[in-house]
Amino acid sequence: MKYGYFDDQNREYVITQPDTPLPWINYLGCQAYFGIISNTAGGYSFYRDARLRRLTRYRYNNAPFDLGGRYIYLRDDTSGEFWSPSWQPTRHQLKNYSCRHGMGYSTIASDYSGIEASTRYFVPLDENLEIWQLTVTNHRQSAADLSIFSAIEFCLWDAQDDSTNFQRNFSIGEVEVEDGVIYHKTEYRERRDHYAFFACSEELAGFDTQRDSFLGPYRGWDSPAAVASGQSRNSVAHGWAPVGSHHVKLSLKPGESRQIVFVLGYQENPREQKFDPPDSQIVNKKRAQRVLSRFLVPAQADAAFAKLRDYWNELLGLCQVDTPDVHTNRMVNIWNAYQCMATFNMSRSASFYESGIGRGLGFRDSNQDLLGFVHMVPERARERILDLAATQLPSGGAYHQYQPLTKRGNNDIGGGFNDDPHWLIIGVGAYLKETGDWNILDEAVPYDNAPGSEKPLYEHLQRSFSYTLDRLGPHGLPLIGRADWNDCLNLNCFSDTPGQSFQTTTNKDGKVAESIFIAGLFVLAGCELAEIAQHRGVDREASGYLSEVGKMNKTIMQYGWDGEWFLRAYDDFGRKVGSKENAEGRIFIETQGFCTLAGVGLEECYARQALESTRKHLATKHGIVLQQPAYSKYYLELGEISSYPPGYKENAGIFCHNNPWVIIGETRVGNGDAAHDYYTRINPSAREEISDLHRCEPYVYAQMIAGRDAPTHGEAKNSWLTGTAAWNYYAITQWILGIRTSYDGLVIAPVIPKSWPGFHATRKFRGVIYNISVERAGAGNQVSLEVDGAAVAGNLVPVPIHGAKVVNVKATLR
Ligand code: BGC
Ligand code: NOJ
Repeated sequence: MKYGYFDDQNREYVITQPDTPLPWINYLGCQAYFGIISNTAGGYSFYRDARLRRLTRYRYNNAPFDLGGRYIYLRDDTSGEFWSPSWQPTRHQLKNYSCRHGMGYSTIASDYSGIEASTRYFVPLDENLEIWQLTVTNHRQSAADLSIFSAIEFCLWDAQDDSTNFQRNFSIGEVEVEDGVIYHKTEYRERRDHYAFFACSEELAGFDTQRDSFLGPYRGWDSPAAVASGQSRNSVAHGWAPVGSHHVKLSLKPGESRQIVFVLGYQENPREQKFDPPDSQIVNKKRAQRVLSRFLVPAQADAAFAKLRDYWNELLGLCQVDTPDVHTNRMVNIWNAYQCMATFNMSRSASFYESGIGRGLGFRDSNQDLLGFVHMVPERARERILDLAATQLPSGGAYHQYQPLTKRGNNDIGGGFNDDPHWLIIGVGAYLKETGDWNILDEAVPYDNAPGSEKPLYEHLQRSFSYTLDRLGPHGLPLIGRADWNDCLNLNCFSDTPGQSFQTTTNKDGKVAESIFIAGLFVLAGCELAEIAQHRGVDREASGYLSEVGKMNKTIMQYGWDGEWFLRAYDDFGRKVGSKENAEGRIFIETQGFCTLAGVGLEECYARQALESTRKHLATKHGIVLQQPAYSKYYLELGEISSYPPGYKENAGIFCHNNPWVIIGETRVGNGDAAHDYYTRINPSAREEISDLHRCEPYVYAQMIAGRDAPTHGEAKNSWLTGTAAWNYYAITQWILGIRTSYDGLVIAPVIPKSWPGFHATRKFRGVIYNISVERAGAGNQVSLEVDGAAVAGNLVPVPIHGAKVVNVKATLR
C-alpha cells in the first residue's frame, strides 16, 4: 500500500494521505539555519546546533507521535468552525490533502469547507530564517470571513536544559512584541546575544506569546481557546512557556486568493550593540527588521524560493544517470543525493529518531558521510575535514563526537573507539580523489583543538595509521577498544548495571579483544594512505604502508578466516566471535563486506567464498541481516549487541549501512547481478509499494529494517540520518555504475546487471562535464574506452588537455 507518489519531474514526493504510518519528514535549510518538518507540519527549528540553539520546542515520543510544529489554524468567523490545513493538530477530514516534500522545502495543501489553504515552508539560501508562504483561496459561492492563527512554541535555546530544568525555566521566559513582530529573548538580559523573531506580513487582529493564554487551561493544540473564540488574548509571556501566535482577519470574495507570509528567524547582535537604547534592556532589533523588510514581501519570498530551486538543480545536476531501472535513477538523481546533504549537515544529531540533544557530529559518521557528499560542495567537505581533524588526539585517536557550535570534542564520551582514526584517511581520500586539491594535506591543524599543536593534515593521517600499529593484540590484529564500527559490540565493557553506557563503562583495559573489522579497515585505509604518499612523492613511506598492509592481510588470513567466512573478532578471553564454533552470532556481515571491499583475499577466492556465505546465511528479501543466528540472551562479554531483541538493530537487524559493503564486494568479484539485486532490496523507492510494512519514508534510507528474527520483519526504523545514505550513493554511482573518482582522475568501470543494455550519465568532475554512455557488447565487465571519439587504453579517462569543458566518453562492456 502507498501513501503518495513520486513526482520525479518536480523532484518531489507527494503524500496524499496525512495519516502515514510514521511522520514522513523533510529537512529545511542546508547551511546554518535548519528545520525538520513532517507531512503534517510537525517539527522544529534550530540554528547550527539542535541542542544548544534550538528555536522551537518539540516533545519527542509524544502521542500522537508527532505533535508540535509550525501550525496554522483557519477559522470560519461566521460559523465559528476552525481547522488545521496541515491536518494536525485538529485532524479534521480534509479534501485534497497533499504534502509535497521537495528539495529544501515542503508544501502542505488542503481544502476544507470550500476554503483552500496551501503553505510552502522553506529556508532561503544564506539566511538564518524560514519562510511560511500561505495562500488562502475562497472556492465558495459566497464571501468568507476568516481568521488565521499562526502558532509555534519557543524553546529556551538549550534543548536539553529546556526539557529538564523547569524550576528555573518557568521563571525566565521573556518576549517583546513590537509592530506585530514577536521577539523571543529569554536569557538575552544576561549572557545570550541572540534572539528569535516571528513576524507576519499582515496587519494583526491580535497576538499571543503565553502558551496558557493561547491554549486556555487544560486545552491542547487541537483546540486552542484563542482560536475557538476567534480572538487572540494579546498575552505577553513572563516566565512559563513563551509561544508565538499571530491573528489575522481576512475577508475573501468568491474565487479570491490571498497570500500571507510568516517569517521565523534567528539573529545575533554584537555584545556592545545588544540593547536599544544602549542603557535599556530592550533588544536592538535593527538586524531583524532589515531582513523582515525583505522577506515579508511575497515577491521577494518567491525570488528566494526560485534561488533555492536553482541551487538544488545545480547540485543534483553534478551527477545524473539514466539507467533501465527507475528506482536507481530516482535515488541517484534526486533522493539519495539529497539525503547525503542531510547526513552531511546533521550527522546523527537531529531527526525524528535523533533528539538533537543526544549526539553531536560523529567522527566516524561525518567522515563516511563525505563519500556521498564531497562532489556536491567540496569547499564544505574541506572545512568539515579540517574541523574533524582538529578533534583528533595526539595519540592519533579521536574524540568520538563533537558539538557543531563549539567544534570541540565531547568529553563525556571521549575517544577509544579504535576504528575512528581510519575514517579520517577514508574521508580525506574521498576529498582528494574528487577535487585533486593536494594542498589540503599541508593545512596546519591542531590536535584536540589545542593552540600551538598544529601540524600538517598529512601528519594527522600518519598518526591515524600508526594508532592501530601501536595497538595490536595477541594475534597481531587491531585491539577493538570501546567498539569499532559496530558501536554495540562492546568486548571490553562488561556492563551489568542498568543505565550504564555500553560504550563508555569500561572496566577492562582491553589488551586482548581484537577486531577483524578494524583489520579490514586498516587494509583499506593503508592502501589509500600509500597512494596519497606516492602522490606526495614520498615513495619510501608509501612502501612502508604497503608492507604493513601486506602483514595485516596475512594476519587476517591466518587468524581472521574461519573456513568459510571472515571471523568478526576475538573477545576479552581470546575466544572467537562470529565463528562456526559459536552457538549464536556465527557469521557477521561487517567483515564479509568490508574485508571483501578492501580486497582482502580477493585473489585467493576467499572473498568469493565470504560473499557466498553471506548469501547463504545472511541475505533476506528485505536486505542482508547483520549476523546470524541472532543473540537470544544477554552476553555480558559481548555487550549492547546482545541487549537488543532478536532481529532489531545490531542484533541481526538489517543494518542498512553495511549492505553496500557487500554490494561493493560483489562488484569487486564482478557480480553485477548480485550487487544490483542487493541494492534494490533496501532501495526505499523500490519498497514504496510495501509502505504499510516498511512504514518509514519511501524516499530516503532508514538505518534499519527489522531482520528475519523480528516479529516485524521488513519494518524500517530510524530514517534519514544514517551512513546508509553515503555508502549506497557511493556503491551505486562508483561501483555498480562504476563512475569512480581516483587520485589520477575519473575511472569508468561499471559492474552492472547482465540484462542491462547499458546506461547514460553526466558527471561533473574537477570542472569538466563528462557525458558518459555505457554499452553492453558482451556479458562481462571488461571496459574499452573511447574518449571524444578516440580509443584510450585502460579505464582511466585522461584529463582533457586543451582545457575542454565537455568530454564525451563511450565505454563498451564485453
Ligand atoms: C545504537 C547504535 C548507535 C549507538 C550510539 C546504540 O544504542 O544501537 O546504532 O551507534 O547507540 O551510541
Ligand atoms: C550508528 C552510529 O551512528 C554509527 O557510527 C555506527 O557505526 C552504527 N550505528 C553501528 O553501530
